[in-house]
This record gives sequence, structure tokens and C-alpha cells, in this order.
Amino acid sequence: MLNVVLIGPPGVGKGTQAGILAKRFEMEHISTGDMLRAAVRSGSELGKRVEAVLAAGELVSDDLMVALIRERLEGDAADTGWLLDGFPRTVAQAEALKELLDELEQTIHAVVEMTVPDEVLVGRLTGRLTCRACGATTHRTRVEEGEQSPCPDCGQRELYQREDDTETTVRARLEVYRQSTDPVVEVLGRHYPLRKVSGDGTPQEVAERLNGVLG
Ligand code: AP5
Ligand code: MG
Repeated sequence: MLNVVLIGPPGVGKGTQAGILAKRFEMEHISTGDMLRAAVRSGSELGKRVEAVLAAGELVSDDLMVALIRERLEGDAADTGWLLDGFPRTVAQAEALKELLDELEQTIHAVVEMTVPDEVLVGRLTGRLTCRACGATTHRTRVEEGEQSPCPDCGQRELYQREDDTETTVRARLEVYRQSTDPVVEVLGRHYPLRKVSGDGTPQEVAERLNGVLG
């Protein structure tokens, strides 16, 4: 059983690689971004509270995020192992996670920091298409009919561009990452094994590198 944190800027490939790893290691993929977008789609109270924050590329409050993660880590994920994608994103979240894991007698077997040059990130995100049906992502250059194309993973015609994937918001998200999330790597590295992996290259190449560090 493996518990992993994938950390890295928007567009580095966390979601793409988490999908591959979750299948390979049969662990639960916990993406806070996916959880928040699902809440927005459902029209719930939570969704209404966070919608504008997501669209602006800013961060949802630490208290809310920690409560959402607590619920997941207390559940089935404790038995299967888990992969955190998008959490923790602030030093306060990292400290709360450490406390929560100590309380639940769980640990992190690897914190994997993924990196890619900024200009590659912007190109990936502004061309990204996300599937409403299964959550997989692809890129405009890999599908022929843009949003009208079938999803390469599940085949449904449900691709859309995320509201925060415009160039202005992507740049704002990168800035938020540098300010708030970069310091998290060092904080987690004090308590858990830290690995650094380049996210450049094809998804398959990156997956091989991740396999190498996770064994
Ligand atoms: P979230 O959904 O977590 O977004 P993010 O961190 O900005 O990361 P992305 O999902 O944009 O990128 P990714 O690294 O998953 O890349 P992907 O694999 O898709 O968060 C969204 C928002 O929710 C935040 O802005 C915030 O408002 C809120 N939020 C979430 N968590 C929070 C928290 N803990 N606290 C507070 N607020 C929170 O890949 C990107 C693209 O590149 C795709 O098109 C993909 O097909 C392509 N691609 C992937 N790998 C490769 C490759 N190797 N080569 C070429 N293309 C590739
Ligand atoms: Mg993602």
C-alpha cells in the first residue's frame, strides 16, 4: 500500500500521471480540483461558495480544504492507499495534513515534486480539453474536432475547456503557485521522503520516471 503526494505547478501533469499511477498501484486518486469542480457542477452550497474563486485561479480557504481531505483520508482510502493531487497547496495545509496523518496513524511514502518550464505549462493549459464524463484530459493538438471530439479515454463527446484555462488566469495560477505552494515542498520534505521528477517529455516517459522513483 502506497500513500503519495504529487506536487507541482498547474499543467505539470499531476492529473495525467495520477490517473496512470492510481490504476497501477490500485490507490485512490484524490484531486481537490476535481472535487471542487464537481461541487460547482452539482450546484451545492459548497459549489456556490467556491465557483468565483476557481474561475479567478485563487485558492479556496484552508479550513474548507482540510475538512474535505479529512473526510477522504478517514474513509476507504486508508485501506487502499491514496494519491493526493492538488493538496496541500499552502504551508498551513501542509502542517494540517501532517497533524491529521499523525492522528490517523498514516504516513506519506513519497512526496513527488514535478517540474516543467513555465512556457510549456502555459501551452499545455491553454490547449487542454477536459472530459465532463470521466475527468480525463487531452490537448487540442491531439484531437481533430476540438470540443466536438470523442474523449480519447471514454469515447463520450463531452470535452470542454476549463474556465480557468485562459491565458490570463493560467498566469495568475502560476503566480499563486510560486507564492503559496512552492514553500510547501520544503515543509513536507522535512517530514517525508522527497523525490523530484521532470514532467517534460511524453506522458509515457514521465510515467516511466515516476515508476522509477516509486518502485
Ligand atoms: P487543480 O484542478 O488542482 O488545478 P492545478 O493545480 O492548477 O493543476 P491542473 O489540473 O491545471 O494541472 P495538472 O498538473 O493536473 O495537469 P494535467 O495532467 O491536467 O485546481 C484548480 C483550482 O481549484 C485551483 O486554482 C484552486 O482555485 C482550487 N483548489 C484546488 N485544490 C486546492 C487546495 N488544496 N487549496 C485551495 N484551493 C484549491 O495536464 C495539463 C495538460 O497537459 C492536459 O491537456 C494534458 O493532456 C497535457 N499533458 C499532461 N502531461 C503531458 C505531457 N507529458 N506532455 C504533453 N502534454 C501533457
Ligand atoms: Mg489537475
